[in-house]
Amino acid sequence: MTKNIVIKEDPIEVAVRVNTTITEFDKPYDKAYFEDRYKHSVKLILVAYVDNQPAGYMVSYDKNNDGSFYCWMAGVDPLFRRLGLLNQMMQYLYDWAKSHGYSKLIIKTRNNRREMLSYLVKAGFNFAEVQPQPTIEDNRILLEKVVV
Ligand SMILES: CC(C)(COP(=O)(O)OP(=O)(O)OC[C@H]1O[C@@H](n2cnc3c(N)ncnc32)[C@H](O)[C@@H]1OP(=O)(O)O)[C@@H](O)C(=O)NCCC(=O)NCCS
Repeated sequence: MTKNIVIKEDPIEVAVRVNTTITEFDKPYDKAYFEDRYKHSVKLILVAYVDNQPAGYMVSYDKNNDGSFYCWMAGVDPLFRRLGLLNQMMQYLYDWAKSHGYSKLIIKTRNNRREMLSYLVKAGFNFAEVQPQPTIEDNRILLEKVVV
C-alpha cells in the first residue's frame, strides 16, 4: 500500500524522539544538546512523517552567517528507510533556503556514512573539503550545493 509521506517544521522535541531510533548514533542526544547548537542562529527543524508517524528528522541552522545554511543532523528510523524521506527533507530544506535568501547548502559527514555520501553525490552536492581524523573512516567530508 502506498505510504503517505509529509514533511513538517516541528518543535525540537519531536526530532529528539526520532533521534533515539537512529541506531548508528552512539549517544542519545538530548534536547539541550540540540538547542545549544542553534541557540543564536536561524534554524529549521524538519520531521518526516509516514502515515502520521514521525520517522525522520533534519536539523539545520545558519552556522556561518555568510549566506550558507548548514544541514547539521539528519536521520531516518531504520524501519522507514529507502522511502525517500531524506530526499524529501532535503528538497524542503533547499526550497526553504531559497525562499529565505540563502545561496548555498552545506553539510558535513564522514567516510563511514556511506548512505549519506551516496545520497549527497546523487543530489548534486560537491566535495569541498576533507578534514583528517585519526582513522580514515572518520575523516569529515564537507560538501556543498549552490542554491539557485
Ligand atoms: C542516510 C539516511 C538519512 C538516508 O535516509 P533515507 O530516508 O533512507 O534515504 P532516502 O530513501 O531518501 O534515499 C535517498 C537516496 O540515498 C541513497 N541511499 C539511501 N540509503 C542507501 C543505502 N542503504 N545504500 C545505498 N544508497 C542509499 C540512495 O541513492 C537513495 O536513493 P534511491 O532509494 O532512489 O536509490 C539514513 O540511512 C540514516 O538515517 N542513516 C544513519 C544516520 C546517518 O548516517 N545520518 C547522516 C549523518 S551525516
